[in-house]
Amino acid sequence: MRRLLPGPGADDAPLDDDALVEAYRCPSGRWLRMDFIASLDGAITVGGVSEGLGSPGDRRVFRVLRALADVVLVGHGTASAEGYRPVLANSAVGRLRTRLGRPPTAPVAVVSRRASLDPASGLVTEAVSPTILVTCAAADPTRRAALADAGATVLVCGDDDVDLPAALGALAERGVEQVTCEGGPQLLRTALAAGVVDELDLSLSPALVGGETRLLDRALPGPARLTLRQVLEEDGMLFTRYDVGRPEPRP
Ligand SMILES: NC(=O)c1ccc[n+]([C@@H]2O[C@H](COP(=O)([O-])OP(=O)(O)OC[C@H]3O[C@@H](n4cnc5c(N)ncnc54)[C@H](OP(=O)(O)O)[C@@H]3O)[C@@H](O)[C@H]2O)c1
Repeated sequence: MRRLLPGPGADDAPLDDDALVEAYRCPSGRWLRMDFIASLDGAITVGGVSEGLGSPGDRRVFRVLRALADVVLVGHGTASAEGYRPVLANSAVGRLRTRLGRPPTAPVAVVSRRASLDPASGLVTEAVSPTILVTCAAADPTRRAALADAGATVLVCGDDDVDLPAALGALAERGVEQVTCEGGPQLLRTALAAGVVDELDLSLSPALVGGETRLLDRALPGPARLTLRQVLEEDGMLFTRYDVGRPEPRP
């Protein structure tokens, strides 16, 4: 993997694992980064999942972003479609976390207005760092209780809908500040609209797909303006890192 921006620098050597970690470090304190992969025409799935867009380099970046995170935040639609499992110590991410001197496991936090997470799923029952359900007071109390009984940490943030700023505040109160969010489109849109996104890490796959799920499921209240910070490249895949501005109101 090579760096295209910022550059060219004195050191144009391919990025080894340590250099890749440094390339993706966040400022200290609270930070929310969104990690996505898209085709050149903005599709984020092939046949309903993201795997068909990926590459070895993208999987490397994915592992680094998870290794640097205090929590992996994800919408229930994505956790379900992509068959999410807990982050375990005996995994490539767990080993990288250990090498970086970080706790080997990190919780996965699933955002679900309806508390749809299955209490019997491996994501709940196999987690070492308990899986977190981020939901709201309107969610079925029986479902919430079943998830808590199964070992999940249940955060109720908001009345009729999940209040994302409150949810991030509740995580920060637990010392969970550096958040890597892996989507999906509904969670990205609502997080942008709430003004809580600091960074978008978008891998651009050299593919045209058409007709599939896109990065955002619906229009934002107004465009969000992004600032390009970094571009890496490998096998024609561009690994971009953008700072995210607050969305503008529609004219
Ligand atoms: N290429 C990529 O990088 C990438 C990344 C992520 C996802 N994807 C793809 O995107 C698809 C999933 O799309 P999606 O729109 O269903 O994704 P999603 O945003 O992960 O899931 C939507 C569901 O998550 C919950 N949710 C999301 N945002 C919420 C909010 N602000 N407040 C409360 N609940 C919220 C709701 O769950 P409840 O209905 O349970 O309330 C909602 O129905 C999959 O095909 C996946 O493969 C691709």
